[in-house]
Amino acid sequence: MDKRWAALAVISTMHAGTKLVSGDFGKTREGALVRIYTLTNNSVEATITNYGGRVVSLKSGGTDVVLGFDSLEGYLNDNPYFGALVGRYANRIGHAQFTLNGVLYKVPKNDGDNSLHGGLRGFDKRVWTPRELPDGGLELTYLSKDGEEGYPGNCKVTVIYHLTDAGELKIEYAASTDKGTVINLTNHAYFNLKGSGDILGHMLTLTADHFTPVDRGLIPTGVLKPVAGTPFDFRKPTAIGARIEHNDEQLKLGKGYDHNWVLNKKGSELSIAARLEEPSSGRVMEVWTTEPGIQFYTGNFLDGSIKGKGGKVYGRRSALCLETQHFPDSPNKPRFPSVVLRPGMDFKSTTIYKFVR
Ligand code: GLA
Repeated sequence: MDKRWAALAVISTMHAGTKLVSGDFGKTREGALVRIYTLTNNSVEATITNYGGRVVSLKSGGTDVVLGFDSLEGYLNDNPYFGALVGRYANRIGHAQFTLNGVLYKVPKNDGDNSLHGGLRGFDKRVWTPRELPDGGLELTYLSKDGEEGYPGNCKVTVIYHLTDAGELKIEYAASTDKGTVINLTNHAYFNLKGSGDILGHMLTLTADHFTPVDRGLIPTGVLKPVAGTPFDFRKPTAIGARIEHNDEQLKLGKGYDHNWVLNKKGSELSIAARLEEPSSGRVMEVWTTEPGIQFYTGNFLDGSIKGKGGKVYGRRSALCLETQHFPDSPNKPRFPSVVLRPGMDFKSTTIYKFVR
C-alpha cells in the first residue's frame, strides 16, 4: 500500500469504534438553532453542543465527570464557562490592551481592569457551524470577524472533537487570519472524577518545574518561579487539598490554585501535562497537550449560586479545571512563547483528555 494511504488507514482506525448521534438542543434568545452531539466509544461518552463548543457531559464508565447543565437554557444564562471552548484569547490580558505591529488594541474589561476569556461575548457564547465527520468526529467552525471583541483580523477557527479507541477525548484546534492577531484557545471543562462532592481528595501530578506567579489581578508578573519547596510543586502525585490553605502569598491571591504552570518541554510536541486520580473510584485521567502551559484552577469562584445537572448545587471547589494554553497575558510579555498569528501562518494545537482507568 502507498505510504500515505497506510497512514490514513491507521488514523481512521483510531476512532473506528466511535458512534455519533445528534439532536436539537434548543434555540438561542436570537432564535438560532442549536444542536447537540453524542459521541460514544467503548466506556467513554461525550456530549458536545455547537453553542460555545461546550462539552455538556463526559462519561467514563457511566459516571459524568464534568459540571454543566441539562438544557441549553443553563448555558445561555450567566455561568463560568462550563465546558466551553474559550477564545479568541483564553485567560487574561492585562489592562485589557496590547500592542501589535505598533497599533494599540483595546479589548473589553470584564475582569476588573483586565480582559478574561475573549471578552464580553467570546467564542464560548457563539453558535459554531457543525459538521459530522465520517469517522465519528465532530467539527465546529467559526469565523471571528475583524474587530470582534476588539481583536484584529478575520480569524477562521476550526475545532475537531474525536473519541479514540484508547479512551481519549481528543480536541484539535486550527486557525488562520487575514491580519496579525493574537490567539489562545482552550477548553474550560470543570472536572470532578468522583462525580460529586469536592475535589480536595483528588491526587494531581503536573509535569512542570515552574509556574507563573501573579499579581492581585491574576496577571503573571513575568517571572518563571521554580515550584520546588512551594505548594505549587505537583511533580509527584499530591492531594489537591493537602496544601491549598497554606499561608502562601500566591495561594491567597488566587483564593486557592488559579495559576499557569510552565510545562517541561522543548517545543510544541504532544506531551503529558497532568495526571488526575480520584482514589475512591480509582478513576484516572491524563491530560496531553502541544501547548506550553496549563491553568490549574480549583473552582475557587464557584459559590453554590449555580444549580446544574439534576438540580445539583455547584459549591466552592466542587470541580477543577485543567486548561491547556499559552501563558496568560502573553501579548504583553515578550519573553513568553508568542501568541501572535499572522496571515499565511497555520495555528494548530491539540489537547487530549485520556481516561486511563
Ligand atoms: C479561569 C480563570 C479563573 C476564573 C475561571 C472562570 O480558570 O483563571 O480565574 O476566571 O476561569 O471562573
